[in-house]
Amino acid sequence: LPVLPIMDLKPFIREIPDFPKPGILFRDITTLLQNPAGLRATIELFEEKCSHLNPDYIVGMESRGFIFGAPLAYRMNIGFVPVRKPGKLPAAVHSVEYELEYGTDTLEMHQDAVQPGSRILIVDDLIATGGTAGATAKLVQQIGCELVGCAFLIELKELQGRDRLPQVPIVTLVEY
Ligand code: PRP
Ligand code: ADE
Repeated sequence: LPVLPIMDLKPFIREIPDFPKPGILFRDITTLLQNPAGLRATIELFEEKCSHLNPDYIVGMESRGFIFGAPLAYRMNIGFVPVRKPGKLPAAVHSVEYELEYGTDTLEMHQDAVQPGSRILIVDDLIATGGTAGATAKLVQQIGCELVGCAFLIELKELQGRDRLPQVPIVTLVEY
């Protein structure tokens, strides 16, 4: 018999006040990951909500994007491509610089990871300001790929991160 699917992932996510700095309420997904039902439900909900976008690849951002992106790609029978912080990828990369609260940072992706024209789904654990996902979207589009959607376990709505993304479908599983 099929088990009733878990639809509400919020009870699995722990809140840690003042981490990593005073005033930040950190949404801790480790409590979801360590729970077999929580982890399984997350990947299955992503699959249910993203399959119709029909991506050729999932692009996931270091480091928490890897945790969800790779098992989702496995389930969807497509490839997973990591986007990493600078200096980590060994072959030739495309780079994109993006704004942080203070200063800038860079994200990189292997030049030969995907064919131009490929359909890409971006996956990360959380969208806050949208800086990380917006930069990844630029990287994907620079390479001549078609961004078909973005999927996040958590959306922090008041930061309006989705306004920094291109006009593609955005899938979220939990909203605060
Ligand atoms: C977190 C999170 C997202 C990003 C969201 O990653 O996993 O990738 O911040 O924030 P934004 O929407 O304001 O860009 P972090 O940079 O903390 O790296 P980590 O996953 O390696 O912990
Ligand atoms: N990344 C950016 N903001 C975050 C938050 N409030 N909790 C967890 N990860 C984050």
